[in-house]
Amino acid sequence: MERSLLKGKKGLIFGALNDKSIAWQVALKTWQHGARLVLTNSPVAVRMGSINELARITDSSVIPADATRMDDIEKLISETMEIFGGRFDFILHSIGMSPNVRKNIPYENTSYENMLKAFDISALSFHRILQTAYRLDAIKERGSVVALSYVAAQRTLTGYNDMGDAKALLESIARSFGYIYGRDRKVRVNTISQSPTLTTAGSGIHGFDSLVDFSERMSPLGNANAEECADYCVVLFSDLTRKVTMQNLYHDGGFSSMGMSLKAIEQYRKSFEECD
Ligand SMILES: NC(=O)c1ccc[n+]([C@@H]2O[C@H](COP(=O)([O-])OP(=O)(O)OC[C@H]3O[C@@H](n4cnc5c(N)ncnc54)[C@H](O)[C@@H]3O)[C@@H](O)[C@H]2O)c1
Repeated sequence: MERSLLKGKKGLIFGALNDKSIAWQVALKTWQHGARLVLTNSPVAVRMGSINELARITDSSVIPADATRMDDIEKLISETMEIFGGRFDFILHSIGMSPNVRKNIPYENTSYENMLKAFDISALSFHRILQTAYRLDAIKERGSVVALSYVAAQRTLTGYNDMGDAKALLESIARSFGYIYGRDRKVRVNTISQSPTLTTAGSGIHGFDSLVDFSERMSPLGNANAEECADYCVVLFSDLTRKVTMQNLYHDGGFSSMGMSLKAIEQYRKSFEECD
């Protein structure tokens, strides 16, 4: 496959913590397709993770920014424009964290302080980034913004806790801002609803391994991995999708359209045989 879908494009990528991160794969793929990048993560993640290694590989700059802080986001987007010499073409939002999930506090006994933090980090950060980019006129006409979501925004999945609510808010912000950004600047805003993926954030979900196994059995094409998600991001950042906006796009091997699969029901039956 010719790898030049993003030749001449410039992008800002949030959320590459380590080589398991979906954002890490997106950075690699977009760079391989000819894009120039600026990478960012929270100051603590820049210190503790391996983003600097990714920056070396992709010849990119790293600018630390806490996505819950408006001043950090303003500084980040201004400095990114300085590095690129003006407006740029795409942004990936790949940020998620719920203290309730991390501390295993059940949804029915939530800490509202934690819940607000989850919404702030995982969803309001997207509004903050879009609002700042819009105000600073940072994204070129026909540019593209993508955030990563999960099917728990539409369907209840045990253990996903308040992240389901955070993802519903994230997807709603993509539609609300997508209208404004499309109308005024012709910029696309979409979310990709990705299969469960073995990353640091994913592994924090209680019962995650079983969820991965269940959705693998349920999806006719199997779970999508981080590299495959990165391929989809490349297409969404490219000019091939210039009229796609305000969508939540499932990238999950068909999981979101399934009710029950043969593979899953066979396993379910087996569990009863073991009990008998
Ligand atoms: N892993 C999965 O199963 C899965 C499935 C669907 C969607 N997603 C979504 O994909 C995105 C990326 O997650 P991942 O699975 O690659 O895990 P990850 O842990 O590698 O990435 C999450 C990132 O969020 C960053 N982050 C947290 N708080 C932040 C803050 N205050 N400011 C800036 N950055 C902050 C972390 O440093 C980290 O880099 C998340 O939105 C996640 O919800 C993941």
